[in-house]
Amino acid sequence: MTAEHRNEKSLVNSQIEALAAKRIRHTRVNEVMTELDTLIYEGSQDSILLVCGPSGAGKTTLAKYIVNNALKQAQGQLETNRGIIPAIFTEAPSSGENDFSWRLLYQRILSQLDDDAESPKLACGVDPETGRMSRPRAANRATTLAALRTAVERGLRARQVRFLVIDEAAHIIRQTRGRNRLEIQLDTLKSLANLCGTQMVLIGSYDLHHLVSLSGQLARRTHVVHFERYRQDRPEDVQAFERCVSGFEKTLPELWGGKLTKYSKALHENTLGCIGTLSGVLVRAARLATITNAWTTASLERALLSQAQHNRILEEILDGESGIGPNLIAA
Ligand SMILES: Nc1ncnc2c1ncn2[C@@H]1O[C@H](COP(=O)(O)OP(=O)(O)OP(=O)(O)O)[C@@H](O)[C@H]1O
Ligand SMILES: [Mg+2]
Repeated sequence: MTAEHRNEKSLVNSQIEALAAKRIRHTRVNEVMTELDTLIYEGSQDSILLVCGPSGAGKTTLAKYIVNNALKQAQGQLETNRGIIPAIFTEAPSSGENDFSWRLLYQRILSQLDDDAESPKLACGVDPETGRMSRPRAANRATTLAALRTAVERGLRARQVRFLVIDEAAHIIRQTRGRNRLEIQLDTLKSLANLCGTQMVLIGSYDLHHLVSLSGQLARRTHVVHFERYRQDRPEDVQAFERCVSGFEKTLPELWGGKLTKYSKALHENTLGCIGTLSGVLVRAARLATITNAWTTASLERALLSQAQHNRILEEILDGESGIGPNLIAA
């Protein structure tokens, strides 16, 4: 390989990285963000907000974005009060244990709260005997579940956390056997929200929606936000999806050569109108194109979801949409 070829290849690779890192602020993201903005406020009765949507819709990306956004918006406040953390992002653990591990979740929240901020920093080092890295544990670190819970409550209040995002929240359901136990799990979150004035924003796929049917009290305190796919039977959705394809095309104009948008319809069908899935397909197609030094319809085809993947995701979407659909019928 000549030096010129190597340079070309690294240029292409950095362009593909740019495509993978590209975040499009699309219509659905704006809609969900606006809805969440109206639902997250001090004194809200909605202690728990569920953001449900299909796999690959871009839920995690959106969740991280709203947390970063909250931090940016609070910048002025943070300069005068450095202890404030307006929003926190964490992921519900999937520990492999039979029951959901509150311990792990609390530990994750505490690490975001920087619980040990006031304790003296202990140096890390290498153990001379084992040669392993040692990270000394802070002396005051909570060990029992009750102590962890108290530390989380204290931290959320002290840091004035307005909302706590828990991604992959369906792990709580999947790792809980029995309706009663699940109700207890949700009560745990609700009481945390009420005690600390922190709204819980749970992010996940459609199975998360089952949580609202657990009890009347929980249903009243929980609001569902639907992060919907772009539907092929709605003209405004078709146009919005096309704008996303065009947005991705503009990230790598030399590669796509203005010819990507003509495949919008086929991409919409294959990715089921989910922007995260579309991003995955296009990054794969761009990488495949580096083999032949140019993209072709065949390399785009190879990057698509297989029929079996497509069918499975569609099944979940149709199931989820029928459960979540609003029932507001005028008399
Ligand atoms: N707005 C966006 N613009 C560009 N790329 C995006 C956007 N949203 C998501 N992606 C990309 O799509 C991929 C999947 O997105 P994300 O993980 O947010 O989806 P998800 O709905 O959380 O999926 P899952 O159901 O698997 O949790 C990510 O790698 C991300 O880079
Ligand atoms: Mg996700």
